Amino acid sequence: MPRHLLSIADLNADELAALLKTAERFKKTRYRGSELRGKTIAMIFEKPSLRTRTTLEVATVHLGGYAVYLDAKNVGLGERESVRDIAANLGRWVEGISARVNKHETVSSLAEHAGVPVLNALSDAHHPLQALADLLTLKENLGRLAGVRLAYVGDGNNVLASLLEAAALSGMEVTVSTPVGYEPAGELLDAAGARLVHDPLEAVREADAVYTDVWVSMGQEEESERRLHDFQGYTVTPELMNAAGAGAVFLHCLPAHYGEEVTREVAYGRQSRIFDQAENRLHTAKAVLAHYLGGLAWSG
Ligand code: CP
Ligand code: NVA
Repeated sequence: MPRHLLSIADLNADELAALLKTAERFKKTRYRGSELRGKTIAMIFEKPSLRTRTTLEVATVHLGGYAVYLDAKNVGLGERESVRDIAANLGRWVEGISARVNKHETVSSLAEHAGVPVLNALSDAHHPLQALADLLTLKENLGRLAGVRLAYVGDGNNVLASLLEAAALSGMEVTVSTPVGYEPAGELLDAAGARLVHDPLEAVREADAVYTDVWVSMGQEEESERRLHDFQGYTVTPELMNAAGAGAVFLHCLPAHYGEEVTREVAYGRQSRIFDQAENRLHTAKAVLAHYLGGLAWSG
């Protein structure tokens, strides 16, 4: 049975640590290898992407493999052909599949029927590849993950779900601050031992890192007006950053909607690490490909 990465919960703590260690090594050595020589990965995207598409493709090239980009509309995912049949076809031609999908069930169904590893390149429920880059960035800046105090301010969305799962494995102490009605699932909070407070000022107190993401995720465009109203007061401003711990860093998975979830002043300010975080998407994607498709042992 192939291993999949549909959510961070598909990993255990040792495997998560191994992926980060490999990513650190790849970054340090500007690694180029041949783990994927002669191997092809199919990349299906139902939604737009800059970072995920580019880093998966570049990472594949750095490991000697080849990536085929498939626009889900052209493939007719679930319309021209069932997800099951598309998975069964692709699995006969390629060594791995990454998929960015509207509904998480689609990526689960691809995994069920492909017969090759499937990597979730973002679904409505999870964004595991992002969380790996986030953890690498936190580790680089704070020297550790266990005990790191991370304040997440904004929407209880896919990006937060993966961060919470990562916290459960790494010992990060997460405080979540969302408006009422936008909280993450209780099980995710419980598994991570995370704290939920609705007041962002209280959430960021003594935080080592402040994280936010867009208020309107892809696929939620029709809720824009309501969301922009409901999230008033949750913008990460210089004042909010000043209320965090001294030396706190700011993270955002990007793309950002400046003036909504974060001001430009914070995003381009001295505490921001958003472009290091984006860079780390490449190193962590490469680590995932090397371990999942390239035969690199999990023990490092
Ligand atoms: N952060 C992230 O996943 O970016 P893209 O949507 O551009 O891939
Ligand atoms: N929560 C955002 C993340 C984009 C990378 C979305 O799903 O659109």
